[in-house]
Amino acid sequence: MIKLKKKTAELLSAAVSTSFGEGLLSADEIAAMLEYPPDKTMGDIALPCFKLSKTLRRSPVQIAETLAAALACEEFSSVSALNGYLNIKIDMTAFGKRVVSDVLTLGEKYGSPMNGEGKTVVLDYSSPNVAKPFHIGHLGTTVIGHSLKLLHEFAGYKCVGINYLGDWGTQFGKLIVAYKLWGDKKTIEDGGVDELVKLYVRINNEIKAEEDASVAGLSEEEAKKAKHSDLADAARAEFAKLEASDEENLALWRWFVSVSLEEYQKTYKLLGIEFDSYKGESFYTDKMPAQVEKLRNMGLLKIDNGASIVNLDEWKMPVCLILKSDGTTLYPTRDIAAAVYRKETYDFDKMIYVTSAAQSLHFAQWFKVVELMGYEWFDKLVHVPYGTVSINGAKLATRTGNVILLKDLFEEAISRVYDIAKEKHPDDAECRAIAEKVGVGAIVFYYLSNNRIRDINFMMEDALSFDGNTGPYVQYTYARTCSVLEKAGSAAEMTDAPLSELEFELSKVLSMFPERVSAAIAEYEPSIVTRYILDLSAAYNRFYHDCKIVSCEDEALRSSRIALTRATNRVLKTALGLICMQSPEKI
Ligand code: ARG
Repeated sequence: MIKLKKKTAELLSAAVSTSFGEGLLSADEIAAMLEYPPDKTMGDIALPCFKLSKTLRRSPVQIAETLAAALACEEFSSVSALNGYLNIKIDMTAFGKRVVSDVLTLGEKYGSPMNGEGKTVVLDYSSPNVAKPFHIGHLGTTVIGHSLKLLHEFAGYKCVGINYLGDWGTQFGKLIVAYKLWGDKKTIEDGGVDELVKLYVRINNEIKAEEDASVAGLSEEEAKKAKHSDLADAARAEFAKLEASDEENLALWRWFVSVSLEEYQKTYKLLGIEFDSYKGESFYTDKMPAQVEKLRNMGLLKIDNGASIVNLDEWKMPVCLILKSDGTTLYPTRDIAAAVYRKETYDFDKMIYVTSAAQSLHFAQWFKVVELMGYEWFDKLVHVPYGTVSINGAKLATRTGNVILLKDLFEEAISRVYDIAKEKHPDDAECRAIAEKVGVGAIVFYYLSNNRIRDINFMMEDALSFDGNTGPYVQYTYARTCSVLEKAGSAAEMTDAPLSELEFELSKVLSMFPERVSAAIAEYEPSIVTRYILDLSAAYNRFYHDCKIVSCEDEALRSSRIALTRATNRVLKTALGLICMQSPEKI
């Protein structure tokens, strides 16, 4: 559609030149005014001419009539003027033929804006905190982040996906204490990250119990001073040892990280995700002092209650904490050092961070600090926030252990699909493979159906349903196109057989793909692709129900309908791939 829109704008710009005077309105200006009228009887493309009155100094009615007389194109079946609108109807057959041939010639490249060539995008996403649960709250960063990577790759950018593991911090002090007290090597080797999380949850609970006991019966004022936990002290001491490169603690830390990573990778594998780098927070330990030094030399650091901060009053933000009063670094400090390192390493044209909206202030603050530090690439940093996720109403807490793990969410979906698929697929391995693709896809699709910033409440039943706007439904539609093509046998092309409304509607949706992809990239919004997939599935299913395809008696029309199916098949596959979904050929 964008192609025809562009062409229409060019023709209109030329018509304006001949009818009203040279160079009055550029094709780009006109393109921005063109609309797709919701009421189809008016036309497929319309130009509201009141937008031109000022420039052309004529009434909208006059303009519409003049342009209607001047405009001609083989892809238009009629051009008319009505109430100051220029209404264009597209020639359905010519249009369908051109769109399908575009799709089939470009193949897997169809839809790509192809504007990323020679540019690099770094994406920081997923990034779970080691030894803490990888839970449903990470679904957003993982699938939005990866879809954005796929979308940028599709546009031709060189992409670097970074998993900025939360692999450093006081939680390791706690974990080391807990492991030394209650842990067992074999249990962790067998049970993996779940066992680490158990230890982590246990020590948090015990610290809390110690603290509560230490203040029992005291007034609030007294409690503040008296609150104490030996275990918390021990944890701080172990972390200090780790920071001082104590061999024993370093070895434990490495082990905890690798056990966790192994577990995360199982989930990534289900989603088809691979990272280009796993450089986590720990990697930047020795890279922070140089940035702190720079801040200090530039006079940007202020001392506030012993802590070193950057004042951001002027930008109406709270201070950005750089060093605690004991001299230790903080989350923003590490992010600044990491950004500088990545700029030097990858020389990115854009760096995207995907996190929950709860971190929006953090990013706004340190982005501003990077700007104040004089790094001219500050405006290439993009934060992409997303809303919260709850399951059937339950909010998710991290510390308590009362969380829904991502792997359990996927496993649950897979096993439900497996139970349904068993009847049709007696072969166990095949059934499991399909259940994986459909179960995981259902969750991803359900999640990516909403604007990312909206808070969502996850309903497993809805996600897995075959009727409704779900993952299983669109995968089923894709499988349907595969089966039609299999029955059709040889590849077919578009012919001159006249197309009717339903075929035209389908061609129109096919033609929208490039503009939807561009919008998804521009708005960092994979849900635009998800909704496009629903539009395309709906258009194809309407066509499928009302038109004979393989059994069509008219040879020429049969060929066009099979070609339309081929094009739909191609575009669905590409689009599903862009939102981390698989497209099984049979369900
Ligand atoms: N590990 C963090 C968390 O789970 C997310 C890290 C996001 N990336 C960043 N560069 N700060 O909350």
